[in-house]
Order: sequence, then structure tokens, then C-alpha cells
Amino acid sequence: MRHPLVLGIETSCDDTACAVLDGEGRVLSSVVSSQLAVHRPYGGVVPEIASREHLANWPVVSREALERSGVKLGDVEVVAATRGPGLVGALLVGLSIGKAIAFAGGRPFHAVHHLEGHLFSPFLRPPGDPEPPAPPPGRFVGLVLSGGHTSLFAVEDGEISTLGETRDDAIGEVFDKVGKRLGLPYPQGPKVDELAERGTPGAQKLPVARFGDGLDFSYSGLKSQTLLAIERLERTLGPLDLDSGEPPQQPVLDLLAAFREAAVGQVFDRLERLQERQPIPLLAVSGGAAANRLLRRELPAWAERHGVELRLVPLVYSGDNAAMIAHAALLRHRRGAAGDPFAAEAESRIPL
Ligand code: KG4
Ligand code: ZN
Repeated sequence: MRHPLVLGIETSCDDTACAVLDGEGRVLSSVVSSQLAVHRPYGGVVPEIASREHLANWPVVSREALERSGVKLGDVEVVAATRGPGLVGALLVGLSIGKAIAFAGGRPFHAVHHLEGHLFSPFLRPPGDPEPPAPPPGRFVGLVLSGGHTSLFAVEDGEISTLGETRDDAIGEVFDKVGKRLGLPYPQGPKVDELAERGTPGAQKLPVARFGDGLDFSYSGLKSQTLLAIERLERTLGPLDLDSGEPPQQPVLDLLAAFREAAVGQVFDRLERLQERQPIPLLAVSGGAAANRLLRRELPAWAERHGVELRLVPLVYSGDNAAMIAHAALLRHRRGAAGDPFAAEAESRIPL
């Protein structure tokens, strides 16, 4: 166990998470408590309930993270918490706890941007792996695919600049909306992906949104086309409810496969464009939607074809977690950038 020991806290949305990393970036523990069950009856995350749940869950989550890591709170040397973007009330819980721990122990505190956490998460190694992760290279391209973002970043010597982002819906968000229309419970993305696996590839086709020749993404067109196609199917099949327990009909599975192919196809389209402009030295792919099965199958082949080195986030860190927050803080700490616990504020929308 190398020093400094870092405690990470993440409460930006509906996961209460705490993690402990050692100074070489080994994940000693990463605990995520999901609030899915409490939000499910409402079909989405209820901000007020999320904040209350974070407060209620924190004692158990933090105790478990410390116990699993074998680290005592008093031995933690650097504290980090997500400052945004996210739900302000939810962020405030983790941020206030982090500030208090840092202040009480006189330790450095890092208020971390949620996307910075995702961006560097492909470099983490699974919890308990005795091998420390290799430090991220000076130059790489980060692709963050989540429920709130579809973004391409260029990272150069710790400086992050945006190459492209979605003009409307995020990729995970459209998976959720399509699933919701079919009666699936929140979060619908993983389930839509699972059902798409059973569709016949090529049985239906939906166009990939080109959107000029830049690197921005757009998913609202694909969303509308898919919702219209569902409506057309309902004219012949009757109302569709994939949560009814009935086995889904093949045309529905085929439509979901076509939807997923167009959604993932857009990601590859933008990667192609970028690669043509300026060869990608290394591509780091992260975020909840980086769990997508089709994407994970096709990315390694694409990268190999183009001679691009690929870091695909380990599945345990694709969704929101605190290991990525502690990791981003550790990278900052190494660059000597310590924060002031009292200057950090929770913010719902902040640029990276
Ligand atoms: O990173 P994340 O946990 O939270 C945000 O920062 O947004 O991402 C959650 C998003 C949700 O929209 C969820 O439906 C989507 O990631 N997601 C998926 C899959 N697993 C999670 N989308 C497509 N395919 C999946 N397998
Ligand atoms: Zn996230």
C-alpha cells in the first residue's frame, strides 16, 4: 500500500459511492449503493429523494469501503468528492461530507468534475488487482458516453479540451427513453441493450445521424424515428409493454437491434472522422453507456484496424462510482494541484 491514501466520494445522482485508492492508483475498495429500487416507482430519479437517500446510505457505504480497504479514516491523506455536474442537493451531501472530513483532519481536498472522473476511469484496474495502473499518457482522446453526456475530449498534459459533444440528447438518455416508451423500468439502457442482442441484425435499419461533417453528436432524430417505428408496430401488434412478463415479439427485438446499431454507429462515424483529421494516439472510452455490449464487441476491432491503442473502461467502473473520483484527485494531487475545501461549491452544470 503506497501513500498517499485517497478517499473518494460520489453522490451526483442516484448512486451513493465511496472508494479508497492507494498512492499508485490501486483500488483498495470501491462501494456503490444504488438507489434504483426507491426511484423505480417514479420512472426516473426524484432529486429530493436522492439527497435523503445519500444521507441515509453514507454511514453504511463509507464504513464498508474503509473496512474492505483495511484503511482507517484517520489514515486517509487526501479527500475528494464530486462537485458537479449533477443534482445540486445530491452533490451537496457528498461534497459537504468530503469537506468536513478534510477540514477536521487538516488534509488536502479535491472537488472533482464528474466527467474528469469518467474521462480517466479507463486507466483504473479492477478492485483488488495487485498491479498498479499505468499513469495515463500525456496525450489521448477520451470518449465519455453516459446518461448526460456524449463527448469527445482531447487531453494534453492534463489540459482537457472538447472536440465534440451532443447537440441534444445523450446516448444513454435515448436508450432510456426508448425503453421507457416500451414500458421498461428505469434505467432502461442496459435492458434495451440486452433485448437488442436478441434482434436479427440487419432485419430493420435506421439511419446514422451524420450532422454535418463536425465531431458533434445528435440523438434526438434517432429517438423520434425509433418512437415512430414503435407506434407503427403497435398498429399491427397492439400496445407494447415489455415489462408485462410476456416474451417480446421478434419485430420489437429487431427494431431495438436497429436502434442500437444506429446509436453505436454514430459513435464509430465520429471516431472515423476524428481519425481522418488527426490520428488518435490512444482512445479511452468511459461512462455508463460504455457498458453497451455492441460497442464493447466492436471497439477493439475498430481500434486494431486503425492502429489506435484502446482503453475501454472496466465494466465495474463504467457506471458512476467513487474510485474514478479518487483517481482523478490522485492525478491532480501528483500535479500538485490541491484545492481549498471551502472554495468548492456544488454546481448542477459546469464546463470541464
Ligand atoms: O455514467 P452513468 O452511470 O451516469 C451518468 O453520468 O449519466 O450512465 C448511466 C447511463 C444511463 O442512461 C444508462 O441507461 C446507460 O448509461 N447505460 C447503457 C447501458 N448501460 C448503462 N446504455 C446503453 N447500453 C448499456 N448496456
Ligand atoms: Zn456518470
